[in-house]
Amino acid sequence: VELLVLGAAGGVGTQAVVAALAAGHRVRAGSRAGSAAPDGAVPLAVDVRDLGAVARAVDGVDAVLWCVGVTRGSGPDVGRVGMPHLVAAASSSTVSRVVTVSGAGVTLPGDAKGPGVRAVSALTRRLAHDLVADKEGEHAVLAASSLSWTEVRPPRLREAPGTGRWRLTEAAPGLTARPLAKADVAAAMVSLAVDGGWEGRSPFVVAG
Ligand SMILES: NC(=O)c1ccc[n+]([C@@H]2O[C@H](COP(=O)([O-])OP(=O)(O)OC[C@H]3O[C@@H](n4cnc5c(N)ncnc54)[C@H](OP(=O)(O)O)[C@@H]3O)[C@@H](O)[C@H]2O)c1
Repeated sequence: VELLVLGAAGGVGTQAVVAALAAGHRVRAGSRAGSAAPDGAVPLAVDVRDLGAVARAVDGVDAVLWCVGVTRGSGPDVGRVGMPHLVAAASSSTVSRVVTVSGAGVTLPGDAKGPGVRAVSALTRRLAHDLVADKEGEHAVLAASSLSWTEVRPPRLREAPGTGRWRLTEAAPGLTARPLAKADVAAAMVSLAVDGGWEGRSPFVVAG
């Protein structure tokens, strides 16, 4: 399978490249700066604000892992601006799956969050307003598209070796949820991209 990782120099993106290579896939590592990628991956400069760059990057790819998110230098709307580019480019291409990473603090229509979990989400929204608002906008674009997509929503993340113990669930994690290794989020994304499942849905990804 040929995979394109966007946001490949980020925390989850770096791990997604590593996980995809380890699983034996061909990997294009697309980052804004065209940063060096691990041996075996093809580095590409892809700013998702540039439709042409996104279209060139997806050509010939089977699945896309969207690890893009708001950073200090990204502007607050990178998901809302970039995701329409991916939808446009992927819709007329070889791409058959798109898997994205959002966050457990993002509340979507149909979520059954209890009062405790809602309080955590409200706090997350207050502390990380730009990130949450952009992920909500990104979700709306994805949900309105005809792509085959899945979006994973992790709780707090940490830089740590992957444990291989993660699961997808409709039950939102609360304040006491264990932080999840970025490598485990990446492993979940590669699995969803290659094996499918949770089509058109936004499960939480949690440790365990
Ligand atoms: N950290 C947590 O505890 C946590 C918890 C739940 C959810 N999340 C979400 O999980 C996602 C992934 O987390 P992470 O730690 O991997 O974040 P990250 O390291 O900040 O990665 C985001 C990546 O997006 C890239 N990006 C920004 N604008 C771009 C553009 N125009 N074109 C291409 N790439 C662009 C960034 O590149 P530059 O460095 O060049 O800007 C960066 O590499 C984030 O969106 C975050 O909101 C995080």
